[in-house]
Amino acid sequence: MNNKFKNITYVTVFYTVICLIGCSNIASTSIASNDTSVSDTLYSHFKELFHVGAAINEETILGYDSQSEKIVTTEFNSITPENSLKWMFIQPKPNEFNFSVADKYVQLGLDNNMHIVGHALVWHSQLADFMQDIQNSAEMNAHVQNHVNTVVSRYKGKINAWDVVNEAFNEDGSLRESVFYNQMGEDYIDQVFRWAAKADPDADLIYNDYNVYKPLKRAGILRLVEKLKSNGTKISGVGVQAHWDLNSPSLKEIEQIILDIASVGVPVSFTELDISVLPSPWEMVGAEVSQNFSIFEGDPKMNPYPNGLPDVIQNQLAKRYEDIFKLFVKHKDKISRVTFWGVMDKHSWLNDWPIKGRTNYPLLFDRNYQPKKAYQTVLDLSTTD
Ligand code: G3I
Repeated sequence: MNNKFKNITYVTVFYTVICLIGCSNIASTSIASNDTSVSDTLYSHFKELFHVGAAINEETILGYDSQSEKIVTTEFNSITPENSLKWMFIQPKPNEFNFSVADKYVQLGLDNNMHIVGHALVWHSQLADFMQDIQNSAEMNAHVQNHVNTVVSRYKGKINAWDVVNEAFNEDGSLRESVFYNQMGEDYIDQVFRWAAKADPDADLIYNDYNVYKPLKRAGILRLVEKLKSNGTKISGVGVQAHWDLNSPSLKEIEQIILDIASVGVPVSFTELDISVLPSPWEMVGAEVSQNFSIFEGDPKMNPYPNGLPDVIQNQLAKRYEDIFKLFVKHKDKISRVTFWGVMDKHSWLNDWPIKGRTNYPLLFDRNYQPKKAYQTVLDLSTTD
């Protein structure tokens, strides 16, 4: 063999080996793998910056969805229960607690050494029916105290962070007139945070809400944080739900959320991130679950991608996630967690809200549990500014 030919052969072998290594890496990121030493995963990529989590549904918690469980335990280091810790499931009748699913949820997190989130202690929605009928302040106080104390104490030292109060503000920054507000008075949030802190002094205690990009609403939340701090009441952070779409809120608005929350001395957790790609009826945004536009059900204009997401939109989604995560990296010192509201598109609540029966594509994993372009874009990001 002459030298020239030999060199070509060496070069060919070299590039073949490189290609094989490269190809096996692509394969191992496209199929979730427990062997994080081989491939980058979402949580390992951002490990030094913030937790990366997912909300998980009951099927996953109970072990009925092994593909979802595999993604959760491979890609994420934090979990939130999408529904299973809400009052209507945990205490459906006065002082009758049902912890069966919640216990399994917490065990799943412990088994996988995850940052475990409790969602949500006090929320006017998905509340037990009996709570709606209480007309007496003392009775309301007693039930809320009992609920907070019983649930937080049960998972003391196991649940790392609680969404203590959820969605307590109106869009104008005033307090929502929920059953809690009406019966316990405007200081009820302070009171609930104190009960939670007493039950588990080491847990992070978070106030969580949507539409935090709206200045008036955000101002109300920031006033709450300052008030709790000046009262000496523990509050560990603000949870920003982040139910966003391809264009709104703007990156500038998102950055302002981060800066403003940091300015009152607490970190931000992005607690419920998803990006809707579907048309929004009227100008409705946010996550007010009582709104439902049933007149649009079955309207193809409102459900344009029933058979798959066109590449052009897939690319827009990837770019949107890239831009958002670039901001998260830039402000990593102010952010403690980024949690996606779900694991894969098929199970997202956004298929049924605000219009039932649509096909939405808000997450990083598609309907077949495969990573989307947005997943790779996020993984390709540099984690230094
Ligand atoms: O419990 C019933 C069950 O008995 C019945 O068989 C089943 C049939 O559809 O419905 C079950 O209730 C559903 C519940 O989730 C539990 O699975 C409700 O219909 C459904 O509307 C409810 O939706 C949840 C929604 O909160 C309710 O407000 C979504 O899954 C959940 O993703 C969503 O999460 C909220 C956060 O907690 C707070 N921030 C906003 C976010 C999105 O709305």
